[in-house]
Amino acid sequence: MHLIIVGHGKMGKTIEHVAKLKNLNIHAIVDNYADLTSLTFPTQSIVIDFTQPDQVLTNINFYATKKVNVVMGTTGWQQHLETVKKIVLEAQIGFIYASNFALGVNLFTKIIAEAARVFNNFPEYDVFMRETHHKHKKDAPSGTALNIGKTLLANIKWKKHLLLNNPDRAIHDDEIHISAARGGTVIGEHEVIFDSSADSISLQHQAKDRSGFALGAIASAQWVNAKKGFFTINDYIDEVLKHD
Ligand SMILES: NC(=O)c1ccc[n+]([C@@H]2O[C@H](COP(=O)([O-])OP(=O)(O)OC[C@H]3O[C@@H](n4cnc5c(N)ncnc54)[C@H](OP(=O)(O)O)[C@@H]3O)[C@@H](O)[C@H]2O)c1
Repeated sequence: MHLIIVGHGKMGKTIEHVAKLKNLNIHAIVDNYADLTSLTFPTQSIVIDFTQPDQVLTNINFYATKKVNVVMGTTGWQQHLETVKKIVLEAQIGFIYASNFALGVNLFTKIIAEAARVFNNFPEYDVFMRETHHKHKKDAPSGTALNIGKTLLANIKWKKHLLLNNPDRAIHDDEIHISAARGGTVIGEHEVIFDSSADSISLQHQAKDRSGFALGAIASAQWVNAKKGFFTINDYIDEVLKHD
């Protein structure tokens, strides 16, 4: 497998660092489109793309012409999902994406889904969420918190809505409140609380550094390397769990 790291910002540099620790072959690292288009692509090349949302369509069209498999870490292109899927399937390349490649976050989400199915039978437990991130983060709540919130909605039948702002009224029974705190250098913390008048059960994920994203992206590259098709990180995790 020949890794091609596209985008050499915060994430690209972390991917490079983790790939070197794992003694993986890095064929090239590029940080702009001109350098990308002048690359050679040996067989068994795989791209790991952590660039910018407005570059995603241009880059994917290029990967399709080169018939190279792709791990897409760049976020913010969900509005183009169907277009991207069509390009990938027509070019018959392998493509995997995740809004969060950290393995722990994806396993955490699976655990939350299971917990929600349990608490669905015990309406005396209410559920709410807290998330905390560093002071530079531009969005709130985080995409990961929204995804976990949707997982809760899908599995707890009397919960119908996510409440994303701090309310100036009581919470309705069919709402799940997600509160977001911002400050300092916190990489990312997500907590789901199931609370009754008798006790409280809290499930929590805390990211320690960016290497979790890189480890998940590299594991996904190894998984999708010999595949064709359009995948999310859940397809990879489900396959691992199937062989358990
Ligand atoms: N899926 C996940 O797990 C995960 C985790 C963390 C971050 N992300 C996402 O990953 C993306 C990158 O994050 P980051 O923190 O690494 O951003 P960053 O530090 O801004 O790095 C992006 C780099 O890509 C370069 N670039 C832009 N267009 C390019 C192109 N067409 N070809 C090659 N390189 C190009 C940029 O160069 P210039 O600065 O010169 O434009 C920049 O150096 C963002 O969308 C972020 O939300 C995803």
